[in-house]
Amino acid sequence: MFLVSSFAALCSLSTLLGAVEAQNSSLLSSTTEPPRNSVVSSSLSPLPSEFSSLSTEPSSTSPGSSLTSFPASSASLGPPVATSGFSRIGNVLKPTITSYTFDPLPTPSESSIPKNFPETYPHDPPPVGDSVIPNFGPAWAAAYSKAREKIQSLTLEEKVNITTGVGWMNGPCVGNTPPVGDFPGLCLGDSPLGVRFADYVTAFPAGINTAATWNRKLMRERGKAMGSEFVGKGVNIALGPAMNMGRLAQGGRIWESFGGDPFLAGETAYETILGLQKSGVQACAKHWINNEQEHARQQSTSQVDDRTQHEIYAHPFLRSVMAGVAAIMCSYNLINDTYACENDKLMNGVLKREFGFQGQILSDWSATESTISAITGLDMTMPGDIQFDSGDSFFGGNLTAYVNNGTIPEARVDDMAIRILAGWYFLGQDSGYPETNFNSWFPLDDTKNKHLDVRDDHWKVVREIATASIVLLKNTGDALPLNKPRKIAVIGSDAAPPTRGPNGFADRGGSDGILAMGWGSGTTDFTYLISPIEAIQARAGRDGTAINWYFDDFNLGDAQNVARGTDAAIVFIKSDSGEEYLTVDGNVGDRKNLTAWANGDNLVNAVASVHKNTIIVVNSVGPLNVEPWIDNPNVTAVLWAGLGGSEAGNGIKDVLYGDYNPSGRLPYTIARNNTDYPAHLVLDSWTPNHPIVIPYTEGLLIDYRWFDAKQIIPRFEFGFGLSYTTFEYSNLGIEKLRYSQQFAEEAVWESGETPSTNATGASRAIWLHRPAYRVTFDVQNVGDVAGAETPQLYLEFPAPSGEPPQTLKGFTNVALGPGETQQAEITISKYDLSYWDVVGQGWKKPDGEIGVRISQSSRKVRLRGSI
Ligand code: BGC
Repeated sequence: MFLVSSFAALCSLSTLLGAVEAQNSSLLSSTTEPPRNSVVSSSLSPLPSEFSSLSTEPSSTSPGSSLTSFPASSASLGPPVATSGFSRIGNVLKPTITSYTFDPLPTPSESSIPKNFPETYPHDPPPVGDSVIPNFGPAWAAAYSKAREKIQSLTLEEKVNITTGVGWMNGPCVGNTPPVGDFPGLCLGDSPLGVRFADYVTAFPAGINTAATWNRKLMRERGKAMGSEFVGKGVNIALGPAMNMGRLAQGGRIWESFGGDPFLAGETAYETILGLQKSGVQACAKHWINNEQEHARQQSTSQVDDRTQHEIYAHPFLRSVMAGVAAIMCSYNLINDTYACENDKLMNGVLKREFGFQGQILSDWSATESTISAITGLDMTMPGDIQFDSGDSFFGGNLTAYVNNGTIPEARVDDMAIRILAGWYFLGQDSGYPETNFNSWFPLDDTKNKHLDVRDDHWKVVREIATASIVLLKNTGDALPLNKPRKIAVIGSDAAPPTRGPNGFADRGGSDGILAMGWGSGTTDFTYLISPIEAIQARAGRDGTAINWYFDDFNLGDAQNVARGTDAAIVFIKSDSGEEYLTVDGNVGDRKNLTAWANGDNLVNAVASVHKNTIIVVNSVGPLNVEPWIDNPNVTAVLWAGLGGSEAGNGIKDVLYGDYNPSGRLPYTIARNNTDYPAHLVLDSWTPNHPIVIPYTEGLLIDYRWFDAKQIIPRFEFGFGLSYTTFEYSNLGIEKLRYSQQFAEEAVWESGETPSTNATGASRAIWLHRPAYRVTFDVQNVGDVAGAETPQLYLEFPAPSGEPPQTLKGFTNVALGPGETQQAEITISKYDLSYWDVVGQGWKKPDGEIGVRISQSSRKVRLRGSI
C-alpha cells in the first residue's frame, strides 16, 4: 500500500492539470449514460479540493482567456497531425479543448516480397539472425478486420470502456480493463524481466545483462521464456521490454533497459519482442520517450532535437514496431514542454504515422493528463483513474461526454477500441487464452490464486544469460580462470545469500546480499536465488579447495585476516538503483553517486593491501567509478556481473572457473571521472506547471560517441570485454547487394535527395531496411581454449553529415574451438547508412565515403574498409 500513498503524492501535478480540464468538462453535456465499471460510471470528474487555489485561472475555452495560444507547430518536434491548437499553462504546452476532426491513418498495406519481406505472424517469427524483415502487415490487417467487426455492435460507452482501466487495484493485475460483451477485458502486468506480483515464476536476468550478451539467440530465448510465463498466468499485455537509453549513468532505471547505444538497444528490443509475442503475450515497448531520470519524472521536460530523437531515442521503438509490438507505453515526463501522453507529434506523428504503428498506445500509470489525449494519440488510460483510487478518469465518462458534445469524433474512439482489440486478435488471444489465475494484491488468498507453476526449465536460459552477460574487465597474469586453488577467501556481503531472504524487501527496495535485480516495478519475486558463496563453495568442494568467507563490509581488519594465506581473495561489491517511489539508503531511484555501496571501495583496497591476488566481482546496475582500485597491481582480475537474476551466483562461478569463457561486452562506457560523462542528473525543484528543464545538449553524442568526439579516454569503453582466449581478424570483404525489384525511393536516396516520409510507415519501409551491403570477414581463435567472440561493426560517416565519429551498426557472435577459423557476416541497410534530415524530414544518404570498421570494442579496431 505504500505504493499508493507515495504515488498519490506524485500525482499532484496531474491533479491540478486535471482540475483545469475537469472544469472545462463540467461545461459539457452531462447527459452521459452511466457506464458499467466503477471508474467509468462516475459522472464527470468532481473538482478536486486543490481546485479552489486555481479558481482564478480561466478555462482554456472561455472567451478572453489570458492563456496564450500557440501555433500547433511549436508544440513539439514538428507539425502535429490531428490537433488544432495548444495553450500554455505555466511552462507546459497543453492541447486546447476545441473540436477536432479525426483522420484515421491508413493501415499500411505491405505486399509480400519473397525472401526479404515474408508475410509473418507473431507465433512464427523469422529465425534468429536471418536478415529478413518480418512483414506483419497481413497479420495486422486480419486483426483489424476482426476488431472492426467486433465494435460494430458496441455502444459508445462500451467502446470507451475498452479504452479505460478499471482503476488502481480494482482488478487482479497491475492494470485491468473491464469485460465488454464477450470480450473478457485485459490483464496488464509488469515487468520487463518476468511476471511481477506472482508466485512460481522465474526471475530472469535484467535487461542490461541481456544487452551485455550481445547475443540475439539468448535475447530471443529469454523473451520467449518470459512470454510463456505471462501467458501461463493469464496476463494479456506484458509491460516490457523497457528501452529508454542509458543517457545517465546515475539514472535509476538504467538496468531495466539495454544500455547506451540505440543499435544494441534496438536489436535487444527486437529479439525480446519477437520472443515474447511468439509465446502469445502482447509486448509493450516502454517508456515513450526520453524518460531518462527518476527525479521529477512527472515534472520534468526533456528538451530533445528532432534528429537526436530520431537517431537515438526513437530507434529502439522503431525496431519494436518492426517486430510487430502490440502496445507502446507513453512515459511520465514532458518532451519539449508537452507531456508524453499528450504529445501529438510523438504519438500520432512519429509512432502512428511515420513508423506505421498499428497497435495501441497506453499511458504509464497515472501519466494521462487530459481527455484530449485521446486526440493526440493515446488509446488507453492506465490504471484508469486520474490518480490512484481517485474514482474518476480522464477517459470513461469524460471521454463519452467529449464525444457527445462534439469535441472528439466518435470515429477516434472507434480507432482506439479497434487498436486495442486488434492487439488481442493479433496475438490470437481471442481463442483459448488462459484466464488470469493470480491476484497481484492478495497473493495468499486461495480463492484468487491458482498458484500455477509456469517456470518450466527456464532456469536454463537464466543461467546461460547470467553467465554470458558477465564482462571480464581485467585479467593480469592469468589470475583467472581459477585452477583448483588450494585455498580461497570470498569476501563482501554481495557474495552472500540475503539475510532477509531473496524477497525480504517489497519490490526489491533494499540492499541485502547478492544483488541480482534493481528495485521498483521492473522486478519479480524470486522463487530461489543462488548466491555466489553457494555456487563457489559447491565447486570448491569438488576441487578439494579450502574455502573461507567474510560478509561484513565494514570490518576491514577481519576481512584482511580472512584473505591472508589464501591463493585468491575474491571480493564482491555492488551498486543498486531503481524506481523513485522507493528510496534505498538515500537513493531516490537514481543513484546519488557512482561509488560502490556498502564501503565497497575501502573493502577492495583493504584486501588488496594484504593480498597479491585480489579478484573483484562487481554487481552493479550500471557504470561505477572503479578508479579507487582499478590500477592497484594487487587487483588482478575484475568481473562485471550486472544483475543475473536467480542464477546470479552460478553465472559468476562459471566464469571464475572457466567453465564458461567470458563473452559479455559492456553495453555502456565506464568513465575515469564522473564529469567525463556527456550528461548528468538534473536535480532542480519544480512547482506545478513549472517542470524542471532537462536539455539534451549532448545531442547525438551519448555514451561512447561523446568520448570519441571529445577525445576523452574512458576507463573501459563501450563494447569492451576480455576472453580467456585470443581472436584474430582477416579478409574483410564488402559486397553491394542487388535486387531485381527496385523502389522509387531508392533512386531518390542514391541521388542524395531525401525520400519523403509522408507515407504511413515510411521509416520502416522495406527499401530502407533490407540488406544493402554484405560485410564478411574471418575470425580465428588463436588461443588454446574454446571461446565466443562478438565482432562489432561501426560506421564512420563523412564529417559534413554531422554524425559522431563512429556509430555501431552491426554485431554478430562467433563460437570457435582452439585454432578454428570461421567466416562471419554482417549486413547493413540503407537505413544504417543514413542520417535523419531535419529539413527534408527523412532518411538521407551522406555525401562522401563511409568508413567501415570491424572492431572488438568501440576502441579496438581490427579491420577497416569503406563504402
Ligand atoms: C512504471 C511502469 C510500470 C507501471 C505499472 C510505473 O510506475 O513506470 O514501468 O509498468 O508503473 O506498474
